[in-house]
Amino acid sequence: MEKLRVKLGDRSYDILISTNWLSQLGKTVKGIIPREKILIVTDDRVGNLYGDEALESLRAEDLNAEIMVLPHGEDNKNLATVERIYNFLVEYNYARGSTLVALGGGVVGDITGFAAATYMRGINYIQVPTSLMAMVDSSVGGKTGVNHPLGKNLIGSFYQPKLVFTDTVLLETLAPEEFRSGMAEVIKYGIIRDADFFELIEDKMESLIKGDVELLGKVIRRCCEIKAEVVSADERESGLRAILNFGHTVGHAIEALTNYRKYRHGEAVAIGMLAAARIAVQMKMFSEMETQRLWKVITRGNLPYQISNLDPEDIMERMKKDKKARMEYVRFALPSRIGETEILDDVPGEIVLEVLKTMTD
Ligand SMILES: NC(=O)c1ccc[n+]([C@@H]2O[C@H](COP(=O)([O-])OP(=O)(O)OC[C@H]3O[C@@H](n4cnc5c(N)ncnc54)[C@H](O)[C@@H]3O)[C@@H](O)[C@H]2O)c1
Ligand SMILES: [Zn+2]
Repeated sequence: MEKLRVKLGDRSYDILISTNWLSQLGKTVKGIIPREKILIVTDDRVGNLYGDEALESLRAEDLNAEIMVLPHGEDNKNLATVERIYNFLVEYNYARGSTLVALGGGVVGDITGFAAATYMRGINYIQVPTSLMAMVDSSVGGKTGVNHPLGKNLIGSFYQPKLVFTDTVLLETLAPEEFRSGMAEVIKYGIIRDADFFELIEDKMESLIKGDVELLGKVIRRCCEIKAEVVSADERESGLRAILNFGHTVGHAIEALTNYRKYRHGEAVAIGMLAAARIAVQMKMFSEMETQRLWKVITRGNLPYQISNLDPEDIMERMKKDKKARMEYVRFALPSRIGETEILDDVPGEIVLEVLKTMTD
């Protein structure tokens, strides 16, 4: 088993990564949370596959657990769904000592974390990530929240889980396109923080896609390690944490302009990472050769690298509306070399627009 600690004082917690061990969820959480009511929150897809096993594992330890199944998909990541969770908790007398268990991808994790952050001013929650995206990114770091009709993740809270419990064998049932989407974030960690890790991905992309479980465990561990380190240093994104947004400035704009339907998050991030690399080349801080290496990894991961059917001007406009952008200039996390990123507040709009034009067909 791989074990990591997210160091945040009295809110510190472990990330446990192993394979084929969902049946041990109950044993593992028993000592960490109060012996009060537990609610597993999942979506229909994940629930059908793993709901019973998770529930049985808790009940086998005499834990008082129930399960609530939400419809899957980003469209349900909203306040109405959170209210459904509150209703359940109130109706069945869940008190301050109770615990939520998020069993699912990033959508379930973000919704459940937010419900836990706000129900009775905060109850415990545990992340059991089931998608690659959730295992390498969304389950770690405590960003929780839901979408508003006018924007993604606009309502939320920083609220850390008590434990992240990862079983890599669950990835076997994940659809290939969802797996790819998670791979984009994996690539991101290499570029922003670890050149050796980027090389490992370059070497092993095909084995990763094939689902080599042992290798995946190591890769997930390294991603979590990087995220944990960054979050421990800057939990609320006043500085360093912004490097995790590499690829996300353009990525979010593309997702929003296509109403979150055309691109999965990671697919949009892949395009955004290439855009950022090219902007960095124009800013004379990153090399053409390194951009080629990024391009190659992205294409080998079957991720998109070109923007279709969108007007670069619209992407620019959208980025300026994004909460992470400032008005005249655009704020970007840009690579200075593979393994190192800088946050720039003053990337000229013209450079960004020129790059976007070269990427649009
Ligand atoms: N909080 C954060 O720091 C953070 C970071 C990154 C992404 N996110 C959020 O995460 C969300 C995206 O997460 P996602 O990509 O996991 O999407 P998702 O939760 O929608 O999961 C993708 C699909 O895969 C299915 N699925 C999940 N695990 C499965 C498994 N093991 N087997 C079969 N099917 C499975 C789900 O039912 C869903 O249909 C977005 O809302 C994004 O904003 C949050
Ligand atoms: Zn992301």
